[in-house]
Amino acid sequence: MEKQLKSHGAWIGKWTFILAATGSAVGLGNIWGFPYKAGTNGGGAFVLIYLLCIIIIGVPIMISEIIIGRRAGNSPINAMKKTAIDSNSSHLWKLVGWSGITAGILILSFYSVIAGICLNYIFISATSSEILSSSEQFGAVIESPLNLIFWHTVFMLLTFLIVSAGVKNGIGRMVKILMPMLGFLLIFMVTYAMFNGAFVKALNFLFAPDFSNVTSETFLSAMGQAFFSLSLGMGSIMAYGAYMPKDQKVVPTSFTVASLDTLVAMLAGLAIFPIIFAFNLEPNSGPGLVFVSMLSAFNQMQFGQLIGPVFFVLLSIAALSSSISLLEPGVAYLSEEGYLSRKNSAFAISFFAWLLGLGTALSFNVLSDFNLTPDRNFLDSMDFIANQILLPLGGMMIAIFVGWFVKKDLIINEIGYVNPVIYNLWRFFIKFIAPTSVALIFISQVL
Ligand code: TRP
Repeated sequence: MEKQLKSHGAWIGKWTFILAATGSAVGLGNIWGFPYKAGTNGGGAFVLIYLLCIIIIGVPIMISEIIIGRRAGNSPINAMKKTAIDSNSSHLWKLVGWSGITAGILILSFYSVIAGICLNYIFISATSSEILSSSEQFGAVIESPLNLIFWHTVFMLLTFLIVSAGVKNGIGRMVKILMPMLGFLLIFMVTYAMFNGAFVKALNFLFAPDFSNVTSETFLSAMGQAFFSLSLGMGSIMAYGAYMPKDQKVVPTSFTVASLDTLVAMLAGLAIFPIIFAFNLEPNSGPGLVFVSMLSAFNQMQFGQLIGPVFFVLLSIAALSSSISLLEPGVAYLSEEGYLSRKNSAFAISFFAWLLGLGTALSFNVLSDFNLTPDRNFLDSMDFIANQILLPLGGMMIAIFVGWFVKKDLIINEIGYVNPVIYNLWRFFIKFIAPTSVALIFISQVL
């Protein structure tokens, strides 16, 4: 007989899923990652390729994750298993769920360290330093293991508290507070940049494509970014889908979440680049763009000690609404199996991720010369294993599973009526385009 799994409850109304999934999607990937990647990959051309990836790979996989999750109402491991068994396929498809949960823990471990730096910057940007330049300030932040570990602990604790409070009272309630705040702060930042920065120059940079510098690397980077930004390939969206009301439409909802995520990435670019250009800073400075270049701008601008903290609060909120979705799939699994209560599951997994995060925190300083995998320090190794191996692999397997293995009537049952043109396009993308493109990124990154 099949074992009875514990239920997690469901979200009330259709907005909770949209807010939670958008909260998961919108994170450091949008506000920290997207602008610097667009900046180093030549601006508009990268943005265009990124949009293409969202439409032909991102949205189809998001639809698939929601179908699997909502149908089962369980954590990704059990959702994959149930759907596979109901389609007369091997229960080993649950391994995709396992790989996702592993990826989630690895990502959470370093995500929390970077998000901790964002928390730290709320205070750093509030006081201007006359003695240190912004790059020296960043250096001072990452040089101190204790400082990094302190903020990493604070961030992980916040993530733990929200997830342990449950689906309805923790995650559901928090996203209703955090997401409107995020929207408000972002609009404030863009408006500020519009009136006080080099807005036209930023528009040109982001939206006038220059294809002269596009290489295969640009495609890979845009595709990887699309995956990460939409939270795909590890089960965040699948787990959230499990709590989505049955009468909510999967396809339009996926479009809404993907559009909001993309909108936020663009708006983040429009909040950051006008300021960067106004202070004659370089748009292609890489990962230090928000911590070094933006801090330098805040140090120089009038009211910078007020605007700076607003910006870093925005970044921290975005990170928190994402980190909870990295923790949830594993917690859902442990608690639905009845191994541990939700609180203890959340504690066990976040503690483990916190421990792993120590390696990342130390990779900025005392362990900077230590390579966990060849030529990659601890942080880069975690990032590599999760983002460049487990996520693309997970995404590809989900696409293959839904495209080729899941019974058609299960799918139709879950998505309800959709325009036949859209449905057939989705089938085509999920069967052929998504798996081959992801296989391409995957192969070329591993080689
Ligand atoms: N999408 C988030 C961001 O842009 C990060 C994130 C949350 C994520 N859950 C995920 C990335 C699952 C990959 C997979 O910052």
